Amino acid sequence: MVRIVLWVIVGLLVLPVSYLIYLFYEFSVHNKKLQYKVWNLVIQKLSWNGQGKALDIGTGAGALAIELAKKFPNSKVWGIDYWGKGWNYSKEKCEENAKYEGVADQVVFQKGSASNLPFKDGEFDAIVSNFVYHEVRDVKDKKKLINESLRVLKKGGRFSLQDTFNNRRRYGIIEDLIRDIKKWGVEEVNFIDSANEIPMPNLLKFELKTMGLLYGIK
Ligand SMILES: C[S@@+](CC[C@H](N)C(=O)[O-])C[C@H]1O[C@@H](n2cnc3c(N)ncnc32)[C@H](O)[C@@H]1O
Repeated sequence: MVRIVLWVIVGLLVLPVSYLIYLFYEFSVHNKKLQYKVWNLVIQKLSWNGQGKALDIGTGAGALAIELAKKFPNSKVWGIDYWGKGWNYSKEKCEENAKYEGVADQVVFQKGSASNLPFKDGEFDAIVSNFVYHEVRDVKDKKKLINESLRVLKKGGRFSLQDTFNNRRRYGIIEDLIRDIKKWGVEEVNFIDSANEIPMPNLLKFELKTMGLLYGIK
């Protein structure tokens, strides 16, 4: 009897630990497969012609900015991030990555916060962001971050923004969020559940169920 109880306890411990190790591997910087699919979805939904200036908000190691520059050789791309503690990213790392990918002349990396972007209204033709807003500590109302991002996008400009938009405690009901964005004068707003768009194991789909993508035309 004691042996059975012990085995049950071991089983109960092994399962969650294995699950955590699996998730850690899937999201680790060493496993780029899933991350590339996530970045690609953001770019795929950005219906931009690649002429002019684009901004990647919370660029991290610069991956999305670099992918944009590679896809749109006529564009100039800015990547901004506050590169705070807790992330293994830096401006230097971004510049190194851009050089390695052959787009150093096309990309500018700059320190700045998503809560107060160091750009004028309507300065960009396209904006993207991936998994940043929920990380921003100095703004509680995350809708304000979407509003600030859209501020620097010109009228008719294209956007593709990915975050945990299905998390109701953070963003409220998605239909209300879309209605609010339209009230700000945004012409077209679309939404998709990212986890359903990206091929991935069901276990990961469950883990990423709050992930969503807002895209459209200002
Ligand atoms: C999960 S990472 C995503 C990085 C990148 N977008 C990507 O897809 O690889 C979150 C990023 O948000 C950045 N971040 C957090 N708060 C920020 C803020 N207030 N302004 C700009 N970037 C911020 C962090 O420095 C980090 O690079």
